[in-house]
Amino acid sequence: MKPTAKRKHRATGLSWRTRLAEPGWLLLPLRMFLGVTFTFAGLQKLADPAYLDPASPTSVQHQLAALVHTSPIGALLSLFRPHTGTIGVLIALGEISVGTGTLLGLWARLAAVGGALLSLTFLLTVSWHTWPYYYGSDIVFAVMWLPFTAVGSAGVLSLDAWLGRMPDHDPGRRAWLRHGVTIGFVAVAALATAGLTAWIGRAVGGRAVPRWPMATAMSGDPAGDGETTVVRLDEIDQGSAKRFIIPQSGEPAWLIHLPAGGFAAFSAVCTHAGCAVDFNISDQEFSCPCHGAVYSAASGAVLGGPAPAPLTRLPVHLRGDFVRVG
Ligand code: FES
Repeated sequence: MKPTAKRKHRATGLSWRTRLAEPGWLLLPLRMFLGVTFTFAGLQKLADPAYLDPASPTSVQHQLAALVHTSPIGALLSLFRPHTGTIGVLIALGEISVGTGTLLGLWARLAAVGGALLSLTFLLTVSWHTWPYYYGSDIVFAVMWLPFTAVGSAGVLSLDAWLGRMPDHDPGRRAWLRHGVTIGFVAVAALATAGLTAWIGRAVGGRAVPRWPMATAMSGDPAGDGETTVVRLDEIDQGSAKRFIIPQSGEPAWLIHLPAGGFAAFSAVCTHAGCAVDFNISDQEFSCPCHGAVYSAASGAVLGGPAPAPLTRLPVHLRGDFVRVG
């Protein structure tokens, strides 16, 4: 027999045209997109060795150090600084949980609430300075989650719906048990996938990102008193600069041996949106790779681009043979 648009769905008796006009089917492409994107984002973070490497300018440690200065919730973020690595892992696992729940239609409304909260957090942090606002993806994601916080998977391609349809003699208790077992199984499978992805990422090596050396105490240098030893006096030529990470804060910074003599040090966090600035030796300037801000290497003053304020100057001390910052 020839198939027609009026063929009925076996379980509901409704025509496919009627069924496809229901919210669950209408929203299915959007739901799949959100599910795949969040799962991929979480796995990608875990697969990237630089993500949890404090010496990398793309690490979560560096991002948080920058966001403390640039985000409207910077004061709140500063409370999490001692636990940045853990926060980074939790963000990645949160994305994977939200994405998996959304794809499978398992606790889909809760997953959508989690997705909306994650998107809102990203909007208030990494996307806050995106201008015009519609160039930022996180504001779009935050809005896209809203319909799913109300309808979840709406019974379409949904483990929630499948579990709910199972015959039962003790509906309340068994339904919870079934959901608990299913969620436990999915959580173990997701964790195993996350662990495997992280292992493969490290085995392959990931993308090459230049590492910033952590400033550490040097032999012969008196320790302590809140200062960070960056370099020996004879190890940095006039006109050159040395990048380093301040161990106390995880923040990237530059020490400059000025062409005219003397030293200056600045936080490397761009005051526009928090990227790490590069040093240009021929122009004696700092330039931001993200949106093109340019700063004077002598004073940290803004010379061009969208930066709203100079780089933060750090105090420099000459102690014997050592140059210290702090
Ligand atoms: S982060 Fe935008 S110019 Fe630096």
